Amino acid sequence: MSTIESAGSPVSRVRKIMPSRNIADEPNAHAPMGVEGAAGRGPEKMNDEGLQPAIEIENFDAFYGDYQALHRVTLRIPERRVTAFIGPSGCGKSTLLRWINRMNDVVATARAEGKLRVGDIDVLSRSTNVVDLRRNVGIVFQKPTPFPKSIYDNVAYGPRLHFKINAAELDNLVEWSLKKAALWDEVKNRLHQSAHGLSGGQQQRLCIARAIAVGPKILLMDEPCSALDPASTARVEDLIFELREQFTIVIVTHNMHQAARVSDRTAFFYQGHIVEEGVTDQVFTKPKQKQTEDYVTGKFG
Ligand SMILES: Nc1ncnc2c1ncn2[C@@H]1O[C@H](COP(=O)(O)OP(=O)(O)OP(=O)(O)O)[C@@H](O)[C@H]1O
Ligand SMILES: [Mg+2]
Repeated sequence: MSTIESAGSPVSRVRKIMPSRNIADEPNAHAPMGVEGAAGRGPEKMNDEGLQPAIEIENFDAFYGDYQALHRVTLRIPERRVTAFIGPSGCGKSTLLRWINRMNDVVATARAEGKLRVGDIDVLSRSTNVVDLRRNVGIVFQKPTPFPKSIYDNVAYGPRLHFKINAAELDNLVEWSLKKAALWDEVKNRLHQSAHGLSGGQQQRLCIARAIAVGPKILLMDEPCSALDPASTARVEDLIFELREQFTIVIVTHNMHQAARVSDRTAFFYQGHIVEEGVTDQVFTKPKQKQTEDYVTGKFG
């Protein structure tokens, strides 16, 4: 099993994932990304041999008061792959995503039972340090949520909170994160202007930069493109393709084409159950369950 803390402190992890050379010198560092979508481009989808689970879920039940939103969910989410959660509205996709980094702590009626592990962390345990968990598990929401701060300060927020790093290192980390999020070229001359002056698609990429700046291992994305236009959506999809080489990504999406394009594995949720989970191509082209077939072919949902 992968061990979150065995990878060293978050600072060392951040430094480990940051390139030692100046990435501005890389030939493609500033190449504009296409807007035609990730389909057919990017690295080949990878097979799953020898993968460690980044997230292990077993017999997981989730409730809001008396209402049971998830029933005995069992799922292993492999590291450094993209896993898509699909299913009709209200089937529990966001509930599961929000439990993975304990976002549901703020919902008074929410409770859960069963096994939910992120690396060595027992997510549901009372003794789990939620700040540590969230440093390892970043989340990006449907609606971009930049802080009312400058572009720079949005990205620097997490590193300032979690790490002792000097100004030069922070500059470097902010630049690295913005480059990783494919936003640097568009903002490098306005880093100290308000993030609210960015377009929706830029704000979403800023939120991704902010999430990766603390060196998480896992990135959760809850319908990250549903508020974006097609060009911005394509850029975020390109980004997901690139980021999956370093991060474990879980994306909730209502867009079947998007799930098919960006994910390696897909889990289909229906009425609080996982009906089917497997390699994305198989779930879409040879689903084992009739309900899955009906959903992916647009018969309901
Ligand atoms: N804070 C809450 N309090 C009470 N019930 C909730 C709460 N959040 C979600 N639920 C209920 O739990 C069920 C699962 O909701 P969830 O948000 O996980 O669905 P979803 O699959 O993400 O749907 P969508 O695709 O519409 O975002 C729904 O019936 C929903 O009404
Ligand atoms: Mg949802």
